[in-house]
Amino acid sequence: MVATQVFQVDPRHPDPRLIERAAAALREGGLVAFPTETVYGLGANATSASAVSRIFVAKGRPASDPIIVHLYDLAQLEQVAADVPGLAFELARCFWPGPLTLVLKRSALIPPNVSAGMETVAVRMPDHPVALALFRVANLPVAAPSANRFARPSATAAAHVLEDLGGKVEVILDGGATTIGLESTVLDLTKPAPEVLRPGGVTLEKLREVIPNVALVSRYLQADEAGIEAPGMLLKHYSPRAELLLFTGEPEQVIPRMQAAVKEHLAAGRRVGILLPDAEADLFKGLDVLVFSLGAVENVAQIGANLFTGLRDLDRRKADVILARAVARSGLGVAIYDRLLRAAEGRVIAC
Ligand code: TXA
Ligand code: MG
Repeated sequence: MVATQVFQVDPRHPDPRLIERAAAALREGGLVAFPTETVYGLGANATSASAVSRIFVAKGRPASDPIIVHLYDLAQLEQVAADVPGLAFELARCFWPGPLTLVLKRSALIPPNVSAGMETVAVRMPDHPVALALFRVANLPVAAPSANRFARPSATAAAHVLEDLGGKVEVILDGGATTIGLESTVLDLTKPAPEVLRPGGVTLEKLREVIPNVALVSRYLQADEAGIEAPGMLLKHYSPRAELLLFTGEPEQVIPRMQAAVKEHLAAGRRVGILLPDAEADLFKGLDVLVFSLGAVENVAQIGANLFTGLRDLDRRKADVILARAVARSGLGVAIYDRLLRAAEGRVIAC
């Protein structure tokens, strides 16, 4: 156990003395959690294999899961990656700082355990003054996965980090709730053609303005589209403790089906949680259920920002089962659907 210090910082103008203390912890091989525009990150010195190995231990994360290296200056790109293609610089110009992660060839500066032994490295520059100040003062590339226990919903507030990693990290920089609330888009540039490995904060529509034919190769989404019901094949991820059931289809069919499911689960003596956009969640208020309203149905950004908070909130209120509805799969809705599908571990009910 380590003593975890939580520093409250202004998200736009963090106190330089607190940033210096957090940066010193990073330089000394410690773990520092920090806010980004997507989710909180759990940072360590990316050039130190021993510092990075502490991330895996703290999260309970398998060594086979590679970690993103975070930068504050474009000049660092060619230090952490080798043979960087022109397209990477073009994408960096368009989307950095921001929620786009590029998979490139790893340089010798980055130890293999950052990338789970692979020859590649994932890199991004987050759009958050606290994260950028921390990296700049530490003067390091920073390896950072999302700051949650492995397979749990990502942390979108410092309280979530403390809940999952208290006693395991030296410092948590508390800069308030994250704005996007969903992780970055991961784009692999080491394949013959660029491939999106994880949909995220930069939408496919935006990426296609730069790479018209970019492909999404999420095997979770494909499994669903092919109608394969193989929950065991889906990597457990973003999971609440409760069992999550994901209902897909038009609201006219979905809502009555969900209402019937609520009654069945209540009859079986289970505590039922509901995760829905505001107006739809209101339709369940007469029932004996725990309701988390995600935001206005037309406001996909708000729904994305509230998603992980909702999963954690329903867990805290001890739901046994959570019923959720998938949002339209365009824009940020693609990333929201991906996270819900994985939280459901394949338990999809098509209406
Ligand atoms: O928004 C984000 O990306 C957040 C913030 C903290 O930056 N980070 C984050 O990290 O979500 P993590 O570790 O939870 O997810 C990283 C994803 C994983 O799906 C991992 O497999 C993939 O990026 N990844 C990392 N390095 C990779 C590599 N070398 N090749 C392919 N995928 C990689
Ligand atoms: Mg994660």
